[in-house]
Amino acid sequence: MRKIILDVDTGSDDAVAVMAALLAKDLKVEAICSTWGNLDIDHTTENTLRLIEAMGKGDEVPVYRGCAAPMAKFLCKDRLPLAIRPLMKDGKEVHMHEPELKLEKATIKEQDLPAPLFYIDYLLHAEEPVTLVEVGPLTSLGHALRIRPEIVKNIEEIVIMGGGDRVANCTPCAEFNIWADPEAAEIVATCGAKVTWVPLDATHAAYLTKKDCERFRAIGTFEANFAADLIEGRILAHTLGQPLAEPDAAAVHDPLCICYLIDPTVLKDVQPVEIHLGFYGVGEGETIVDRREGLITPNSYFAFDADRFKFCDILCDLFTY
Ligand code: RIB
Ligand code: CA
Repeated sequence: MRKIILDVDTGSDDAVAVMAALLAKDLKVEAICSTWGNLDIDHTTENTLRLIEAMGKGDEVPVYRGCAAPMAKFLCKDRLPLAIRPLMKDGKEVHMHEPELKLEKATIKEQDLPAPLFYIDYLLHAEEPVTLVEVGPLTSLGHALRIRPEIVKNIEEIVIMGGGDRVANCTPCAEFNIWADPEAAEIVATCGAKVTWVPLDATHAAYLTKKDCERFRAIGTFEANFAADLIEGRILAHTLGQPLAEPDAAAVHDPLCICYLIDPTVLKDVQPVEIHLGFYGVGEGETIVDRREGLITPNSYFAFDADRFKFCDILCDLFTY
C-alpha cells in the first residue's frame, strides 16, 4: 500500500480526485489537507468533509484545514486576483466549481492542527516515506518546508497538478495552482524531493466527454454518478468559458494525479526537465521549461501528454465495486 497525503481546494475536479484516491485499493490516504484556491478555505474544507462523509469514510480520513491565502502574493497590490468573467447560460451563472458540493452538510469536523503543522508533525515522525499529491495552491506545504525543511526526508515523491508548457488557463502564461502562489510553488519545486508535474498539457490531453459520463452512470455507484454530475458541470463551464479542442469535453485535472499513482503509463512523454517559475508581470506563475541543450540540470519530471482512454478506464475500474 502506497501512503499518500492529498492537498485539495475542493472544487469539482478535486472531488473526483478525492473519490478516486479513497477507492484505490493500492493507496492509503493518510490525511487530506484543504487549502484556499478554487474557493475560499471555508468552502474547500466543508466540501472536502461533506464528500468523505458521503463516502462513509468520515471516521477514516482526517482532514486538516490549510491556509486561507497565498504566502505573499496578495500583499502586493499589483498581484491581486484576476477578475473572473461570470459564465452565463439561460440567464443563470455557471460555475466550474460550485461553492457547495450538492451533498448533505458535513457533521464531521476537521482536525484542530492546521495543515502546515500537520505536514511537519507527520513527516518528522513518519516511519516510512509518503507521497504528497498536491492539487491546489501549494501554500501549506510551502510553509511547512520553510519552517522545517528536513521534513523532505520522509517525502517519497511530490505529484503536483500544476503548470503547463504549451497550455495555460488563468493567464496567457500560467496555470491556476502555480499562479495562485508562485513563492510556495518554488519552495516545493526546489525542496529536494522527487517532483512529478502533471501539467495542463497532460490534463487537457486526458479530457473526458459526455460519453465518458454515460460510462460512469452505467456503473451506478455513488462515486460514479457524482463524478458524472461534476464532470458534466465542467463540460458546460469549459464550453462557455474555456473551450477545448474537442467540443463537449472537460479537462478533469486532479484525478489524473491519482491515476498516475495507480498506473504511471496513463501519463505519456514524461521527461526529466529543468523547470523555473515566473514571479512577476505577465509571466507570473509560468512554469518555464529550460530547453537549452547541454546547459540544463533536470530538477523534476514533467508529463507532456496523457492517455485519455486509459484515464477513463482507470476511473471506471475505481468506481466499480
Ligand atoms: O488549473 C487547474 C487546477 O486549479 C485544478 O487543480 C483545479 O482544481 C484548480 O485547483
Ligand atoms: Ca484543485
